[in-house]
Amino acid sequence: MRTLRALVVAALLCLLPVLPAHAADLTYDFEDGTAQGWGPRGDGVTVTVTPDAARTGSGGLAVSGRTATWHGASITGPFVRGVGYTVTAYARLVAGQPASTVAMTVQRTPTGGETTYERVAAATVTDGEWVRLSGSYLFTAESSDVQLYVESSDATSRYLLDDIVLSPLGDPTREPITSDFEDGTAQDWSPRAAAVLENGATAHAGTRGLTVTGRSASWDGPALNVLGRMAKGDKYALSAWVRLGPDTASGRLGLSIERRTGGTPSYERVVAPKDVPAGEWVQLSGTYTLAYDVEFLSLYIESETGTFPFHLDDFTLTYVEPKPVQTDIPSVKDKVPFTMGSALTRPDTLGVHGELLARHFNGATPGNELKWDATEPREGEFTFTDGDYLVDFATGHGMTVRGHTLAWHSQTPDWVFEGATKEVLLQRLERHVRTLVTRYKGRIAVWDVVNEVVDENQPDGLRRSKWYEIAGLDFIRTAFRVAHEADPDAKLFINDYNTEFPRKREALYKLVQQLKSEGVPIHGVGHQLHLNIEHPAAAEVEATIERFATLGLDQQVTELDVSIYTDFVSTYDTIPPELLVQQGHRYKELFDVFRRQAARLSSVTVWGESDDVSWLRSWPITRLNAPLLFDDDLQAKPAYWGVVDPAELAPLVRELEAPAAAVKVDGKRDLEWDLLPDAPLARVGDVSAGFQARSSSAGLYVLAEVTDPVVNADDRVTFTVDGRTRALGRTSPGVRRTATGYRAEALLPTGADVQVTVHDRGSRTSWTGTVTPIPAVKRTTAPHRATSPVLDGAVDRLWSGVPEIRTGTWIQGTSGATAKVRALWSGSTLYVLAQVTDPALSESSANPWEQDSVEIFVDPGNGKTKGYEDDDGQYRVSFTGRVTVGGTFDAVGVKDNVRAAAVAVPGGYVVEAAVAMPTVTLGEGVLAGFDVQVNDATGAARTSAVTWNDATGRSYLDTSHWGVVLLGR
Ligand code: XIL
Repeated sequence: MRTLRALVVAALLCLLPVLPAHAADLTYDFEDGTAQGWGPRGDGVTVTVTPDAARTGSGGLAVSGRTATWHGASITGPFVRGVGYTVTAYARLVAGQPASTVAMTVQRTPTGGETTYERVAAATVTDGEWVRLSGSYLFTAESSDVQLYVESSDATSRYLLDDIVLSPLGDPTREPITSDFEDGTAQDWSPRAAAVLENGATAHAGTRGLTVTGRSASWDGPALNVLGRMAKGDKYALSAWVRLGPDTASGRLGLSIERRTGGTPSYERVVAPKDVPAGEWVQLSGTYTLAYDVEFLSLYIESETGTFPFHLDDFTLTYVEPKPVQTDIPSVKDKVPFTMGSALTRPDTLGVHGELLARHFNGATPGNELKWDATEPREGEFTFTDGDYLVDFATGHGMTVRGHTLAWHSQTPDWVFEGATKEVLLQRLERHVRTLVTRYKGRIAVWDVVNEVVDENQPDGLRRSKWYEIAGLDFIRTAFRVAHEADPDAKLFINDYNTEFPRKREALYKLVQQLKSEGVPIHGVGHQLHLNIEHPAAAEVEATIERFATLGLDQQVTELDVSIYTDFVSTYDTIPPELLVQQGHRYKELFDVFRRQAARLSSVTVWGESDDVSWLRSWPITRLNAPLLFDDDLQAKPAYWGVVDPAELAPLVRELEAPAAAVKVDGKRDLEWDLLPDAPLARVGDVSAGFQARSSSAGLYVLAEVTDPVVNADDRVTFTVDGRTRALGRTSPGVRRTATGYRAEALLPTGADVQVTVHDRGSRTSWTGTVTPIPAVKRTTAPHRATSPVLDGAVDRLWSGVPEIRTGTWIQGTSGATAKVRALWSGSTLYVLAQVTDPALSESSANPWEQDSVEIFVDPGNGKTKGYEDDDGQYRVSFTGRVTVGGTFDAVGVKDNVRAAAVAVPGGYVVEAAVAMPTVTLGEGVLAGFDVQVNDATGAARTSAVTWNDATGRSYLDTSHWGVVLLGR
């Protein structure tokens, strides 16, 4: 890797001749009475040195006789190729001349190319004050006839120039750029199109800023030419402050970069557009790594939509010195019994990122470059520049390459499906698959032939993609057949996410089983494993691997990452360090599973080598996330140690809530224990366990559900509460045998610091943490009815005898609208009746949760997860019967589950709702997570909100504090 780095550095060096340290400024002050090399540009132009033209001292340059905008004063060749300069000058118009834009421009002719004109600086100049022009300049291509000249937008304007300074930068790619606009100019910023940039008094700091008006498109705004100011492979921190124009109520602004390579422009987001509240300065900050050779590089501020005016101030661009890659820690690949891969994109191969990849990984998956949109953007036009580059990089470093991916519903150009009959679509697929697999035959060992084709919510388990809609299962059959024909040695995989969830696992299992039985050449199953810090449990991942092992196929973990968020909304400004420790333990548990299952798992790939390049920085929303093994500085995180050497991890202190309740200590599992899930104790060997606690005045009730198939004399669970230990063996009171091990219950003295340890022959597994008492988890019963109620808001007879609950847990305010609620079930549907007391009704807010409404929360598996699982739903019904649904990011799994009616009654309204629960089988004794919330609006604001059970105010994000409904008879 050293060599690669040295090469990059050498390439830079020959590109940029290094000037002697502190090369002197070139100053043109005209104090010696001569024009110091400046002369006229254009017929009839005169350039004279006079005291009248002096800004400082006694000499300045007067320019007159112009008849074209490009006429003016010019000087030959002050710039050295490869050296960056800041250029400043002062200009003023001769008295009586109308204001115009005066610009400094470089004309040059690249060898073998056409003459170019590059603007260095420009400003609006009047006959009043001297105005400073400033900008920066660098050229890298061999060129002749290099001239710097000063021109004006007014063809005949006469102007004065003085104090022109060209300062060579030591290494322009290391010099910071700042724009504070305090000098009254636009500094080096220029409009991308029609936008008008004016220095103005709206400032973030100091007294001046840049005002941007007259934008012609969302992408039109201030731009800064940074060509030569960033080096390929280097990282830069960019920051700018923005504020909306005075009459703009809302808008989103972001920071982007346009780069051109070989004449083709590409646009990259450095900071995705974010909300800028009216009247506030908002910082846009992010980092950018230049990954390409460019002949054009410009950064700019743009809006998501609209052309509203805004202000810009205090921009900075600074080189980020990379921390060296750690060389005194083990390579991950040396510590695992399978191929250890990483996703990578082109920038990841450069500099320290490239070093990190080569040091730790022996597998590689191009993250985007082999997808359809990258490889065949137009029919029959194949582009492999980036794909080849990455495959070369990977194979050159001895990495096994996973080809990702041949057929997918995403990142696939529209033309593929346009006007396609099944036959045409399969022909397009065949050509695409054959071309890619043939090209990389022998170099790509494994292909994700199809990606994300399963949808467990469909009766046949198949995603309703355009592929499926046009070609049915045949697109999968064709893709595998053709890939196998093109490279019989390649291992062909089906790849999907959420395979660790039982319903998706089974749907994928059925599909693979069918494909195998048909003789489709499928060799492996790829589990993406985009997980989060809490869910799903490592045991579910293991269950998935064990399940697919019965099919006798290879398996791989293909896109592992562990988000620090459990929902799709939250963001941290700084990540709490204990969360990263928790993540380290989570990685440890996962790699315990992978190591245990190594015979079935040929490779594990993380989706990116370091947090700074993770796709979870922009999906599903832009936020700080840290899902990988190495941090933004490429240093090993606890996650790395969790994989490589868990002994290095700080101990994990967990937290558990103990709801108020009493249970019978008899080794039987009371219904009370089923209200919440057991907290897992990691599996060691064949032994694992789950733990719960309940608080009461009598003490702390504890439960351990132990999985331990082999009976040994010394099998036992120890509970330590505030330093006092109770041991329970298989034959102790409160212990009973279960199908997979034993269950232990005990009543212990109340305490907070708890350790639970399950001992097996020579090994043990523990839970250590604090236990906090909380109020009891509320439970209600929904009786069964043979017929379903009519959804009309009328309380018909079916509802009589149904237990009633009341909302009384205030999450906003302490009084307001409340509801009496009943639930019953029929068929596969839960029916809910809410009679709301609320004399003043309003729907005037645009936000449905700020309207008078009832929210019904249903978690079919009673999973009590932090964050929503895809069948968890928040169903909101306004007093007029308007329905809105919340769930996971896109709520696809639940959005069609609800039907409802609402009617106004004296003093309030009645909501009657039906919530379908297609993902579970309803029956007597089934438990579901359940809660109800009443939102009380006064005009356009919500003035109170009350729930039945959940006191956290986070029901819309987190299902773990909802109450429980028990289905009755
Ligand atoms: C992601 C890439 O990492 C992003 O750069 C891109 O913008 C979107 O796709 N499942 C997959 C991967 O199979 O291809 C996705 O990769 C992440 C989810």
